[in-house]
Amino acid sequence: MMLYDDLALETQFEYGSDRRDMRDMKLQDKVAIVTGGASGIGFGIARRFIAEGAQVMLADVNAAGAEERAGELGDHCAWTQADLSGEAGAESMLRAIVERFGRLDIAINAAGIGTLAPIVNQTAEQWDAVVGLNLRGVFLSTKHEARQLIAQGEGGVIVNIASINARQPSEGMSAYCCSKAGVEMFTQVAAMELAEHGIRVTAIGPGIVDTPLAAPLVAIDAIREEFLENIPAGRIGTPDDIASAALFLVSDEAAWVSGTTLFVDGAELTKRYPQLLHRFAELAQGESQG
Ligand SMILES: NC(=O)c1ccc[n+]([C@@H]2O[C@H](COP(=O)([O-])OP(=O)(O)OC[C@H]3O[C@@H](n4cnc5c(N)ncnc54)[C@H](O)[C@@H]3O)[C@@H](O)[C@H]2O)c1
Repeated sequence: MMLYDDLALETQFEYGSDRRDMRDMKLQDKVAIVTGGASGIGFGIARRFIAEGAQVMLADVNAAGAEERAGELGDHCAWTQADLSGEAGAESMLRAIVERFGRLDIAINAAGIGTLAPIVNQTAEQWDAVVGLNLRGVFLSTKHEARQLIAQGEGGVIVNIASINARQPSEGMSAYCCSKAGVEMFTQVAAMELAEHGIRVTAIGPGIVDTPLAAPLVAIDAIREEFLENIPAGRIGTPDDIASAALFLVSDEAAWVSGTTLFVDGAELTKRYPQLLHRFAELAQGESQG
């Protein structure tokens, strides 16, 4: 005879073509927030978490994009508009998730921007915008996510999206590289402080991933080729590659993983970053001569 619980477990969860048995789901009943969830890596992580049984809120400054992407992911997905470079945005994001889902278990801090400018031409405003979201924003999001998790008293997991540029310098990307190096250190400090509350804090350092953020670089043949020459695994990454790592880090399989940055990059970090300023200078020279 089949018991009631067995019947419930037999229920199939359907997400797009990804049909899974609830017993196999790694995040059943978990509630996750994904900042920057309206695009690229954040969206890829949100999609994977929902396929694994989670309820997910996308938090993004781009309201139209977040609404559209949440619609694609169905009933298990909600969205909220928040500018996560400021404290008001982080506070409102936490209010929104608690109002909608009643709690928080997992936070993915993926909202980020980049800029390309040589130091001698870079404005203070450009620097502040990049560091203000990528580093200050990660601090503010973590602060309010951790307060919620501490108040609930059942632990939780926070994953910050850093970059190989936390360790690998790139000419023209001083603000970005420094912001990501800061995220790596911030993750270590947060892991120390929050361990007593059962909260794990980790980071992922992606290599180059095919998203709208990277599109202006990889769309240029010479730059794409230089990336590929410097990725031993022979291909550019996908949001799904990063989602797989995020799923591991938030799962119980990673119960003793905290304070670390997991680089997911096809071994790109073993090589060197493309010489972007040189490449753009060559392109500009070619155009002026042509
Ligand atoms: N794509 C890559 O090659 C790559 C590599 C390493 C690290 N990363 C990091 O991954 C993260 C996601 O990048 P992506 O490639 O998916 O970029 P993306 O541009 O596709 O997505 C970033 C999202 O952040 C949102 N956002 C921008 N400013 C915001 C703000 N002030 N408040 C809230 N949301 C804001 C955008 O609206 C967008 O939806 C970033 O932190 C980025 O630095 C990306």
